[in-house]
Amino acid sequence: MNTRLVVAAAGALCLALAAPPPSAVSAEEEKPYKVVDGKVDRETFNGYRRYGNSCLQCHGPDGSGSSYAPNLTESLKHMDYVAFSDVVINGRQNVTQSQQNVMPSFGHVEDVALYINDIYGYLKARSDGALGRGRPQRLDN
Ligand code: HEC
Repeated sequence: MNTRLVVAAAGALCLALAAPPPSAVSAEEEKPYKVVDGKVDRETFNGYRRYGNSCLQCHGPDGSGSSYAPNLTESLKHMDYVAFSDVVINGRQNVTQSQQNVMPSFGHVEDVALYINDIYGYLKARSDGALGRGRPQRLDN
């Protein structure tokens, strides 16, 4: 093979590696969590922990709901990140039921407000069926 051809081929390969098809990239990046063989990245694990500390008491283990508060793995099938964080930051009160169920506002709770992305990621992984119930294993360590 002549040298120029080899150089051209190598150049084309570099370009191909640097710029995969846009569709492949966005499909990967849309996921707000990372789960590989049932193990989660640091952020998703953090979300699991924060959920356990601040949300589980009402929304039940694994986001799966209780008699008091809705199943968040179902909610996230139709709620996007913006709608989710709006409810979590501002809270909400169901006034249509005879019994008043209150979703507190977490805007002033640093442990939640600072890590709302991670909590969303964890719940989204549960909602997508990418992650089972219980304490997930971590990818790193
Ligand atoms: C004191 C109990 C309580 C705690 C703690 C709590 N929630 Fe809620 N949450 C509720 C109730 C009750 C509702 C339903 C309110 C309504 O219907 O208006 C709700 C609603 C929601 C909704 C809307 C669901 C939907 O389908 O519309 C989201 C999202 C949510 N909570 C997320 C969270 C997250 C995340 C946490 C932890 C940071 C949390 N909640 C902590 C009681 C709670």
